Amino acid sequence: MALFHRHTNREKQLLFLSSVFFLLLSLAPMAANQSLSAPLSCSKDPPEPVIPTTPLVSFLERVQKTALQTYGNSNFDPKTYVDLSLKFNLSTTVEAFDKLPKTANGSVPVKDLDGFIGKYFKGAGEDVVYAEPVDFVPEPHGFLPKVENPEVRGWALEVHALWKNLSRKVSSSVHHHPELHTLLPLPGPVMIPGSRFREVYYWDSYWVIRGLLASKMYETAKAIVTNLISLLDTYGHVLNGARAYYTNRSQPPLLSAMVYEIYNRTGDVEFVRKSLPPLLKEYQFWNSEIHAVIICDAKQRNHSLNRYYAMWNKPRPESSTIDERFASKFLNVSEKQQFYRELASTAESGWDFSTRWMMNSSEFTSLSTTTILPVDLNIFILRMELDIAFLAKIVGENTIAEDFLRASQTRQKAFNSVFWNENMGQWLDYWLNNGADCEEPQTWEAKNQNRNVFASNFVPLWIDLFNSDTPLVEKVTRSLQSSGLLCAAGIATSLTNSGQQWDFPNGWAPLQHMIVEGLSKSGSTEARTVAKDIAERWIRTNYVAYKKTGAMHEKYNVEKCGEYGGGGEYIPQTGFGWSNGVVLAFLEEFGWPKDKKIDCN
Ligand SMILES: *[C@@H]1O[C@H](CO)[C@@H](O)[C@H](O)[C@H]1NC(C)=O
Ligand SMILES: *[C@@H]1O[C@H](CO)[C@@H](O)[C@H](O)[C@H]1NC(C)=O
Ligand SMILES: *[C@@H]1O[C@H](CO)[C@@H](O)[C@H](O)[C@H]1NC(C)=O
Ligand SMILES: *[C@@H]1O[C@H](CO)[C@@H](O)[C@H](O)[C@H]1NC(C)=O
Ligand SMILES: *[C@@H]1O[C@H](CO)[C@@H](O)[C@H](O)[C@H]1NC(C)=O
Ligand SMILES: *[C@@H]1O[C@H](CO)[C@@H](O)[C@H](O)[C@H]1NC(C)=O
Ligand SMILES: *[C@@H]1O[C@H](CO)[C@@H](O)[C@H](O)[C@H]1NC(C)=O
Ligand SMILES: *[C@@H]1O[C@H](CO)[C@@H](O)[C@H](O)[C@H]1NC(C)=O
Ligand SMILES: *[C@@H]1O[C@H](CO)[C@@H](O)[C@H](O)[C@H]1NC(C)=O
Repeated sequence: MALFHRHTNREKQLLFLSSVFFLLLSLAPMAANQSLSAPLSCSKDPPEPVIPTTPLVSFLERVQKTALQTYGNSNFDPKTYVDLSLKFNLSTTVEAFDKLPKTANGSVPVKDLDGFIGKYFKGAGEDVVYAEPVDFVPEPHGFLPKVENPEVRGWALEVHALWKNLSRKVSSSVHHHPELHTLLPLPGPVMIPGSRFREVYYWDSYWVIRGLLASKMYETAKAIVTNLISLLDTYGHVLNGARAYYTNRSQPPLLSAMVYEIYNRTGDVEFVRKSLPPLLKEYQFWNSEIHAVIICDAKQRNHSLNRYYAMWNKPRPESSTIDERFASKFLNVSEKQQFYRELASTAESGWDFSTRWMMNSSEFTSLSTTTILPVDLNIFILRMELDIAFLAKIVGENTIAEDFLRASQTRQKAFNSVFWNENMGQWLDYWLNNGADCEEPQTWEAKNQNRNVFASNFVPLWIDLFNSDTPLVEKVTRSLQSSGLLCAAGIATSLTNSGQQWDFPNGWAPLQHMIVEGLSKSGSTEARTVAKDIAERWIRTNYVAYKKTGAMHEKYNVEKCGEYGGGGEYIPQTGFGWSNGVVLAFLEEFGWPKDKKIDCN
């Protein structure tokens, strides 16, 4: 009987997998068709009906707007207000809110608003409660074996201990009364990035997991993946973060990479078996008609590549007062909606915000993220194809493995013809023509490659298909060295100092990590030396800033060793999940010799 059961489950699973895959195959040509018939893929979208957000989110946006009018702009973080949870039901709360005395500009006397918020809401983050990590020990067995310097080792143990500070679960109230919270219920504990980012985020989690693996916290790492998969099950994609206001956009898709890395350290085949069907579902989401674009290269070959595209054409609720202010320069509704979609799609890219997405680098409202085929997004999807091929093989799904391997080879060709720039020795984002004739796929034109230098131009090195080609790596390494991106304290995000946070002089942990890991896997001694040098600079600046401020930071200023970064739409944040993860991963890989000093000189 038990045997029979196992058989039917296995058969069901196989059937499910093959039907998902069949669906996926049949979707591919359909996606191409739809992007040809609908103007989606190559021009700005026609206006769409605006579907309301949940009533709670809409109400909290009203509270947010009133708070801005009342308290003023200094130290105002709009996200605080959409993170409040209700003490009473929504109708009672709305009724009380509507009775507050309002002035002509929408403000409320400070004491009335203070009183209302105190009486009707629980504070932002009160529904995200501490969770003791089950697998934390102060010094794990075999922790960072190559770190010999006692000062560095002591610091690494402090960074490791920060997992305790960042570990959270949703409160039982969220499970019992989800209608009172914008926080979404999740089955298990998570690691949050820190500070205002008080919920789990999608792409941050990859580097958090890399750190947890160095910290030997395998159960915690798996629980994060389980939570992200529960979001994927509910919404059809992994959300930007676990909040009701993030439901209509994703983030750089690294779920497959998380599963791959966890399998690599644990050998847990059952975990792979459970993760594979969700990964196939996510692959479908990213290759659906809104994210996939057909482009015809110079040799008349069609390629399907991907872009960011949020299913959202309104202000981002967590920043709606800011978004509305920028959108006020547009006079008609459809232009406003398109701008809102660009804002949300840029948030989906993880690079919010950067001149990388602007048609005019001095004009924020020229964001055009949906008309760009980004190098890094397509690398993440190439990695998804390779990871799925690998993981499918582990669980004996050989047909799926072969199909995904073929998909990766097809995408590799697209990289060579659409993104690669031989003169620069870099892969460049490709800008689609606006308003081109959409009956035909767009034809590749050299002038549409964005020749501005961004750290993302080097991210393909992360993938073995590229870093195993030694002459290629050597060419790209020289290009990196002369690019202007390599600075005293790491790799800059771009060369433009725009005041946006994904631009010069900020450096971000994930970008350092992908480029360093790619270079260090290569067969080129020169590339491996550059990798080690960048990793050391990054470790030093994290260390010195930590000693100075007592915290790990979200981003660093790569011009000055020991300084954290700034700019953008919110104040600099500490904590910080992915920075901790990357420092631990670098220290595990490169170590730190006993006699090597760790300061900025
Ligand atoms: C693609 O479009 C053509 C012409 O509009 C139509 O005949 C065909 O059925 C479509 N194919 C798919 C798979 O949707
Ligand atoms: C947001 O996503 C939900 C569910 O995925 C969908 O029903 C809704 O139409 C989307 N909202 C917008 C504004 O596109
Ligand atoms: C709104 O009006 C109130 C009182 O009339 C004033 O104190 C406040 O500064 C105004 N707020 C803004 C943002 O103009
Ligand atoms: C909200 O709470 C009030 C007071 O407890 C109650 O009278 C009302 O029926 C509730 N409304 C809803 C929609 O549950
Ligand atoms: C994990 O990755 C390393 C380095 O790529 C490799 O040598 C090792 O075989 C992998 N382990 C498993 C279980 O796949
Ligand atoms: C590329 O796609 C277009 C539109 O579907 C089609 O007309 C053309 O034949 C395709 N080219 C190749 C080489 O497949
Ligand atoms: C909105 O404004 C743009 C640019 O001014 C114009 O091209 C477009 O036709 C306008 N749309 C509507 C619906 O008025
Ligand atoms: C770019 O934006 C700036 C600031 O709005 C403006 O002064 C400039 O004319 C714009 N450049 C172009 C080419 O549109
Ligand atoms: C981490 O938590 C501990 C214990 O609550 C606290 O003493 C310490 O200041 C926290 N560290 C940081 C960097 O937040």
